[in-house]
Amino acid sequence: MLKLENISYIVEEDGLNKTILDNVSLTFEDGKTYVITGPNGSGKSTLVKMIMGIETPTTGNIVFNGISLDGLQINERANLGISYAFQQPVKFKGLKVRDLLDAATGKSNDFKTLCNYLSAVGLCARDYIDRPLDGTLSGGELKRIELAMAICRKSKLNIFDEPEAGIDLWSFENLTKIFRSLGEATNIIVSHQKKILEIADEVILLKGGRVEKVGKYKQVLPYIQNNQCDKLRGEHE
Ligand SMILES: Nc1ncnc2c1ncn2[C@@H]1O[C@H](COP(=O)(O)OP(=O)(O)OP(=O)(O)O)[C@@H](O)[C@H]1O
Ligand SMILES: [Mg+2]
Repeated sequence: MLKLENISYIVEEDGLNKTILDNVSLTFEDGKTYVITGPNGSGKSTLVKMIMGIETPTTGNIVFNGISLDGLQINERANLGISYAFQQPVKFKGLKVRDLLDAATGKSNDFKTLCNYLSAVGLCARDYIDRPLDGTLSGGELKRIELAMAICRKSKLNIFDEPEAGIDLWSFENLTKIFRSLGEATNIIVSHQKKILEIADEVILLKGGRVEKVGKYKQVLPYIQNNQCDKLRGEHE
């Protein structure tokens, strides 16, 4: 179980305090899929970065399976079983796709295994395993490779920040299949997409750095529409 307790994040901008997250408390139960949604700038990425240790809360605690994450570095959190896929995937100069997947699994994988991981995200291993992880890969290709890395790592807690961003309509059916295939894991997905919100056990709506509503997609939907979440609005008209 993951618990966020009274998380606030305040930054200084032009000599003034700006509250990005305001006293956010949430509980994530094991094996469930949670989707965090909300308008641009509502604090979604900031919140999930705090779970991975990429940002540090100004106040509040994060407790994962009874262990306080306070002061733990990213790699220490990864060792506890937390994985994170960035909204903007990271490029790794000098590494190839196969190196990344080997690093994620902690062993050297044969072609067939790599093929299974990559075909799950719609990529053919033959074309990709020896490609360098640099700017020559398209945004969507990098995003898929990052997803493949998350799948093969078999973490206890997977965090995906807008996994659909840049991915074509190859697409959402496969993407939703991937989340279902993650088995016993807890998934926290930041998303604006209806199809992804629908697969959530719980949808968390953030607005202005606060939790506006938590519940099933159908329960949260009226709040999304009232909140004029523009990205979602078009999908429900
Ligand atoms: N270090 C910082 N200094 C100033 N403002 C910041 C800082 N970090 C984040 N912000 C602001 O906090 C707000 C929340 O940012 P965040 O990236 O969490 O939004 P988001 O909900 O993920 O948005 P999107 O849907 O566009 O990805 C934004 O207005 C952003 O500009
Ligand atoms: Mg974001």
